Amino acid sequence: MAKVRLAVASDRDYFIQDYLTRYGKDMEMAKKHAIVCIDVHRSIVIHSEDEIIGSVTWAIREGIQAGLVVIFQMSITKTENRGKGYGGLLVKHCIEDIENFYQSKGYNLRRIFISVNENNIAGRNIYKKNGFRVLAELKDHLKLGEMELIYGKDYF
Ligand SMILES: CC(C)(COP(=O)(O)OP(=O)(O)OC[C@H]1O[C@@H](n2cnc3c(N)ncnc32)[C@H](O)[C@@H]1OP(=O)(O)O)[C@@H](O)C(=O)NCCC(=O)NCCS
Repeated sequence: MAKVRLAVASDRDYFIQDYLTRYGKDMEMAKKHAIVCIDVHRSIVIHSEDEIIGSVTWAIREGIQAGLVVIFQMSITKTENRGKGYGGLLVKHCIEDIENFYQSKGYNLRRIFISVNENNIAGRNIYKKNGFRVLAELKDHLKLGEMELIYGKDYF
């Protein structure tokens, strides 16, 4: 059965490989990406006994006192593992981690936001199901002719 946990230093190779697969073959950038995901921000990984199935990363925006968080880089690595509920599980635990983090630091969480491509039905379903709503539509944002939807979950 799949389990969910916070990413740790020994997950470095997974994040390097994830970068190389998704964003291009630049090893220097991939190594920095792993540091950012593990040491700078917080990432949640979903894993079986022997491999990481996927991950999602979240980051504080404009200092913790602003209460603003962005979720990004959610991915279930292998296509055969998609559509099995792993993405939904990741986001559920990611939200819990964000809420617990802010509570433990003694700051109010105001808003969690994410950008999702309009054609990404699985991603949109996951965020809608977890209490997010569309805040804005950005045309030609990541790709010409496509729209990114900014989803937000408000705590105010
Ligand atoms: C987007 C992604 C993370 C979703 O994770 P997943 O494990 O495949 O999604 P889940 O199995 O948790 O499904 C989430 C919901 O979308 C639905 N869904 C899944 N795949 C779908 C598809 N291809 N078409 C339509 N609906 C789909 C599921 O039925 C589920 O809805 P439900 O909870 O109402 O039943 C995954 O598909 C992925 O890694 N895609 C490539 C990377 C990517 O797009 N990242 C950006 C994410 S915003």
